[in-house]
Amino acid sequence: MSATSSNKNSRNLQEGGRLLGKVRVPGDKSISHRALLFGSIAEGLTTVEGLLPAEDPESTASCLRSMGVQISPIKKGEVVHINGVGLDGLKEPKNVLDCGNSGTTMRLLLGLLVGRVGRHFVLTGDESLSKRPMQRVGQPLKLMGAQVRGRSNGNQAPLSIVGQQLHGAIIGTPVASAQIKSAILLAALTADSSTTVIEPALSRDHSERMLKAFGANLTVGGEMGRHINVLPGATLKGQSIVVPGDISSAAFWLVAGSIIPGSQITVENVGLNPTRTGILEILRKMQANLEIINKRDVAGEPVGDIRVRHVAQLMPFRIDAEIIPRLVDEVPILSVAACFCNGISHITGASELRVKETDRLAVMARQLTAMGAKLEEHPDGLTIHGGAPLQGAEIDSETDHRVAMSLAIASLMAKGDSLLSRSEAAAVSYPDFWSDFERLRS
Ligand code: S3P
Repeated sequence: MSATSSNKNSRNLQEGGRLLGKVRVPGDKSISHRALLFGSIAEGLTTVEGLLPAEDPESTASCLRSMGVQISPIKKGEVVHINGVGLDGLKEPKNVLDCGNSGTTMRLLLGLLVGRVGRHFVLTGDESLSKRPMQRVGQPLKLMGAQVRGRSNGNQAPLSIVGQQLHGAIIGTPVASAQIKSAILLAALTADSSTTVIEPALSRDHSERMLKAFGANLTVGGEMGRHINVLPGATLKGQSIVVPGDISSAAFWLVAGSIIPGSQITVENVGLNPTRTGILEILRKMQANLEIINKRDVAGEPVGDIRVRHVAQLMPFRIDAEIIPRLVDEVPILSVAACFCNGISHITGASELRVKETDRLAVMARQLTAMGAKLEEHPDGLTIHGGAPLQGAEIDSETDHRVAMSLAIASLMAKGDSLLSRSEAAAVSYPDFWSDFERLRS
């Protein structure tokens, strides 16, 4: 059984086939972006092992190269070298900075660039990124004295920045978003006094961990580490970074292994940072058969291998606002999992999904319904009635990488073949997804 490309963008996906074997998912996307950004503003050499060689981190690297940072080519299996230019060393680019499809690139660069006094930057992106809200970052940065302009009253790219001397501030963020938090932390590095960010709930904390390792004067306090303080003035020093595998990429295999009869998969070298492991909490509630082996610490992040086996009766689950920050990117694949649970699953508190690369609630509802799933879409979530048989259908990633991969897993459980349009979107975060998919099925 095999999946073949019927033309450049569509992929024929045959039903059935258990998934067996080992897979090593590519490097964590969030950590890869941060390694590139922080390495660039540190002094001296930063080396990065396991950096994700995919379109999103390439966008970050090419923006940084346009500002004079030397970054070696990002190739699978090769250590990336970044010659840091120091906190004030980024040059004014000769052209606009193209962030491609990557929200993390645009939002973190906003934070990084607003404090480069007197320099002018323009950030742009693809059709999807140009629709996404940027005011959520621009607004708090303005409280620090930043000057950011853009379409829709500053909310949409292209965005233009004129660097200013920033002032320290105490800023409460409106949503638990690591992109907003990280942008403020980056701006805080060159402010004239202390800055504190307070999140409504803890979002992924890779920036805090890595900035500290680079030598930033950063402290985490408050209930659940939601208060983060940065004192400016510290010099960041180049580091050796090892990027663990991305749990958001592992999630496709963890769900596939749980729902497809006869499957057994070991996903190796998965990052297990507790701000990212909501998917494991939900799979356990589903009574999936998961085992974490070989748990270790790699360069300040917990890592392990995860073994998953098919379970005949999966329990339905409930996701609410509290857990969303810990599994925000896994909702599409969990909506596929819900189709195979024994009862009704509820996804609530997930309105953030509507402003990701696509409106992921609407897209998953549309595509799974086309396959015969029984579900209802709500403003902040989905109600999914498990047990309705899926049929092969003409489906579409609608350009979203996580939707493409989620639908690929759903197609294995459908009766009859599916034709997935715009399957190439997977390359945004997981360039080898389709070859891993083929290999695990054989
Ligand atoms: C990311 C944070 C998340 C996530 C995105 C990557 C990051 O966004 O959805 O894929 O690297 O900071 P929010 O924290 O803004 O929800």
